[in-house]
This record gives sequence, structure tokens and C-alpha cells, in this order.
Amino acid sequence: MNRRLLILYLNNKYISCMNNFEFRNPTRLVFGKGQIARLSDLVGQDKKVLLTYGGGSIKRNGVYEQVIAALKGREITEFGGIEANPDYDTLIKAVEICKQKKIDFILAVGGGSIIDGTKFIAAAAKCDCEDTWKLITDKSFKMPVPIDFGAVLTLPATASEMNNGAVISRRATKEKFAFHNPDGFPCFSILDPTVVLSLPKKQISNGIVDIYAHTLEQYLTTCLDTKVMDYWAEGLLKTLIEEAPNLMSDNPSYDSCANFMLTATMGLNGFISMGVDEDWATHMIGHELTALCGLDHGETLAIVHPGVMAVMRQEKHGKLLQYARRVWNITESDQEKAIDMAIEKTENFFRSIGKKTRLGEYGIGNDIIDTIVERFEQRGWAVGEHGIVTPEKTRQILERVK
Ligand code: NZQ
Ligand code: ZN
Repeated sequence: MNRRLLILYLNNKYISCMNNFEFRNPTRLVFGKGQIARLSDLVGQDKKVLLTYGGGSIKRNGVYEQVIAALKGREITEFGGIEANPDYDTLIKAVEICKQKKIDFILAVGGGSIIDGTKFIAAAAKCDCEDTWKLITDKSFKMPVPIDFGAVLTLPATASEMNNGAVISRRATKEKFAFHNPDGFPCFSILDPTVVLSLPKKQISNGIVDIYAHTLEQYLTTCLDTKVMDYWAEGLLKTLIEEAPNLMSDNPSYDSCANFMLTATMGLNGFISMGVDEDWATHMIGHELTALCGLDHGETLAIVHPGVMAVMRQEKHGKLLQYARRVWNITESDQEKAIDMAIEKTENFFRSIGKKTRLGEYGIGNDIIDTIVERFEQRGWAVGEHGIVTPEKTRQILERVK
């Protein structure tokens, strides 16, 4: 049986072969109202702290004051101005500060961009190498044990608060890449759901789409009879569908914010990836759209994911059908029609929370599609589970969502 047929076979039948895996996640989660005050006991009194944050939202919503009050007595150096999609050229300035001031703890206060940027700063400051861009791009590079760092999360979306991955952009070359550091988990993360109340609706919907996409990237792959992970993933997807209207309303309830925040963390902290095949094609294509066209991360996923489902429907047939039946409760007996309906419902869900789902709606045309496909060809990238999303498939996916 050739490789493609084997994958098709695996995807359409349950066979009992959950992948082997090893699970480790050392991040301490501190969850709930008023918990930012816990920084006073989570960060040692003698620490020289670098406080990293973004463009200023924490100074407008009261989070900054809570952090400063809780850290009273520590020597604090501030490094604000980290961009959404953190830029390498900004972050290396913080690396120098860490070295000069002998910083021994970094506290990230913000969303995924701030936590990701902090993961890079913490590792690069412990790296003797001349070119720290290699930390991000050279997979053979031995990652340094980073400076200890923790997080106060202000935007539920990426799960960066409880994983060891980070995504760094380089605007100078219009590139955006992910890296992982085995020792790069936050020591702790504080999740106070009330921070959601100051988020613009655009960021809430970006977060919902991002969590939804993370879950699908680890769920809509091979049928391996991974019941625990499948039911978990379906629970996350259903929670998002159920909570979205309340979250997008003028007065989201505390319970919705709490469910939203925990869904984000559980979506990419390693729980639902145990023993399953993972996809990540949507994210890889999405990163190019951010790097080349400046779209927010969540905006790219709302466009690309329905395209991946449609173009890869044969390879993902078994899981797409399970998704249709269990997440969207579609009872249509014709399997192909049921899958069509599930793809349509997914796109409609993204649109219902204000997301555009077509490249044309952002004025993105064929030239960008050509550039992305050329980049994937040059890098020798075949993405998705088992490398099934070839550059040619990538073209078809982007053509499908024009
Ligand atoms: O910069 P400030 O002023 O703080 O404003 C931010 C920013 O403009 C604002 N914001 C955050 N919390 C707020 C708030 N505004 C009001 N109230 C609050 N409570 O929101 C804007 C976006 O913030 P950002 O941190 O960029 O958002 P997000 O958490 O979506 O992070 C996106 C980045 O994470 C990467 C993405 O690629 C992108 O670079 N990802 C990281 C992952 C990981 N580490 O595992 C996985 C993801 O798939 C993703 O790729
Ligand atoms: Zn994401």
C-alpha cells in the first residue's frame, strides 16, 4: 500500500494505535479573581525583575498597578512597547538589558505576543551565540535554559502561558517563525478572567478563533481511537461555540470569561495532543499571511481553516465526520453532505463573531498566494499531519478561500 493510500486507510477506520508519547508540563497555574496579588509570594523578594509588556493596555485597565503593588520591594526594570506579533529587532534590545542588569526573573504581563517575546528574551540572554535569530530558525540549535520567567495573562488565546512554544516575527524580512524550547515553560501563570472585560471585541474574536483552530489542529487529523483527547477537544470546541455570544455581548459574564480563559490554556498546553497526530498547516499558512500582509493571527486562521477542511477532506474524512456529528450535531445520513454542512457551519461561526473568511475581503490576491507557495517550495515544506499538505495543496487551499 503506498503512503497516501495508507493515510487514507488510517483516516477512515478506527485502528487501536494511539501514538506513544511523553507528557511534561511544569507551569503552575494560578486562576481566579484577584489573583494578580499572588505575585508577592510567587516572585522572590531578592529578584532583579524585568517587567515586559506591550503598547500600554495594562496601564489603562488597572493590571499594571496591581502588578507593581504586588512586586513592591523588588528591583524592577520595565521593558514596554513589545508589538503584537513581537518583532525580533525590538526583543534583542531587551536581551542586552538582561545582560547589563543581570536580570534573574522576567515577568511577562500581556497576551501571547508578550509571553512569546519574553520566551525569546529569556533564552537569548542565556545564549553565547553571535546570531540569536538561529534560536528561532535553526532546529538543530541547542536551546539554552532560559532565565526564569512567569506571566500575568491579559488575553486568552495562544496558551503561551502554559506551553514552551513561541512565535517571533521579523518585519525587516517579512518573516514569522515558531520555535520550541524544552526548558522554556513559564514557572507560573496568573489567569484572572476579569482582564477579559477590557479587551476590544476584535481581540476577543481573535482569541476564540485561535483557540478553536488550536483544537482543530490537534483533532481533525488521523482516527487513532484517542477517546480521551477527542472528547476533551470536542468539549473545548463546544464551550467556545456556547460562550461566544456572551463573550461578544456588551457585558460578558464572569463565568463566560473564566470558561474562555481556561479553554485557551487547555487548547495548547499538551493535554489534547497526547497520542494524536497533529496538523498545524492552517497555522503555518496563517503565519505567512501575517508576515506578508499584516493580518492578526486570529484573522488568518478564520480564512485558512475552512479551506484546509475543504481541500483535505478525503485525508481527514473520518475525523471531519466525527466533528460534524459530535460538535455540530449534524444527523444528515449522507456523509459527504454532513461534512459540507460542518465546514459551512465552521465558517459561519467565525463570521458570526465578526471575522472575515476570504482573502479578497482583505484585498489579498494571487501575488500573495504565489509568494506563499514559492516560500514553502524553497523551504522544502510539506506541512500538516504526515506532510500531506504539499505546496500544491497549499495553493489549492488558498485558491479555495479567495
Ligand atoms: O500591546 P497592548 O497595548 O497590551 O495591547 C494588546 C495588543 O494590541 C491587546 N491586549 C492584550 N490584552 C488586553 C489588550 N487590550 C485590552 N485589554 C487587555 N486585557 O491585544 C492586542 C493583541 O495582543 P497579542 O498579545 O498580540 O495577542 P495574542 O494573545 O493573540 O498573541 C498573538 C501572538 O501569539 C502567537 C501569534 O502568532 C502572535 O504572534 N502565537 C503563539 C502561540 C504559542 N506561543 O503557543 C501559539 C499561537 O498559535 C500563536 O501563533
Ligand atoms: Zn494560534
